Amino acid sequence: MIQRPRRLRANQAIRNLVSESHVRPEQLILPLFVREGLTEPKPIKGLPGTVQHTPDSLRAEIDRAIAAGIGGVMVFGVPNHRDEDGTEACNPNGVLTSAIRSIREQAGDRLVVIADLCLDEFTSHGHCGVLDARGEVDNDRTLEIYGRMAVVLAEAGAHMLGASGMMDGQVAATRAALDKANFKDVSILAYAAKYASAFYGPFRDAVESQLDGDRKTYQQDPRNSREAIREIKLDAAEGADIIMVKPALGYLDIVSQARQLVDLPIASYIVSGETAMIEAAAEQGLLERERAILETLSSVHRAGANIICTYWAIEAAAWL
Ligand code: PBG
Repeated sequence: MIQRPRRLRANQAIRNLVSESHVRPEQLILPLFVREGLTEPKPIKGLPGTVQHTPDSLRAEIDRAIAAGIGGVMVFGVPNHRDEDGTEACNPNGVLTSAIRSIREQAGDRLVVIADLCLDEFTSHGHCGVLDARGEVDNDRTLEIYGRMAVVLAEAGAHMLGASGMMDGQVAATRAALDKANFKDVSILAYAAKYASAFYGPFRDAVESQLDGDRKTYQQDPRNSREAIREIKLDAAEGADIIMVKPALGYLDIVSQARQLVDLPIASYIVSGETAMIEAAAEQGLLERERAILETLSSVHRAGANIICTYWAIEAAAWL
């Protein structure tokens, strides 16, 4: 026998020597939820360790994120007041903008501060855009609001905006609005391929989603991959700085194709339901939690996403 692949697996030193991919703390992004009017941090069902933050608990979490050396945070705001048009999203002193401002004051440039650019937390119907007279999501009127929201978030100090609404033309509209307001260096993380997934369950709790129905007229059909390629090409052409594929685990084929397709950095988001599955199994003693988490991060990285959004960011950074 000439070929003995096992030679290179004989001990930890040699396994390290030939290891092909390395998840690094500075490429992990932690999603954060900030709830207006909260006095005590509130746990989120299914995601142990993840909470809705108060201003104080947010500050403590940002200290931990900096100490852990993670790359950045992705901030979601949960407002008290919701209406048809999600007007609170453009309030310069709203829950999201205030959180962004406070994180930047605290962290400066030590973390990349990404603000979620979407209306779903702010609309009374829970959709990612505003509705027309027939009750359908009105793509182009939504783009105007995204443009205004983008500028407000940039003014609050966001380094980067997470364009997660899956409206057509959202990257171009956001870029144009930012440039017009002279925020040429605020970058866009485009959720280029975002699927209408059943794995967003715990997140919808976390943002107290008002959605009744689904997002299938704007998020992608899980049966499709060519459609993702089309979306990724469009977002790249519209000026996206980073391409995101979401969810991660069921869509590693898309991550891998995205990596081949464009020269932009690729990110992927291990979503709430994917996280909750592992947490629930670990809690029942069905798998070793730390190993399962590290293996999961490696899978996403190996598929081609250097940047990983994960609720495990701080914890995993310590293990890495
Ligand atoms: C919507 C948004 C969603 C998530 C992030 N941004 C959910 C949705 O489309 O309903 C899900 C993230 C997760 O499940 O962890 N702007």
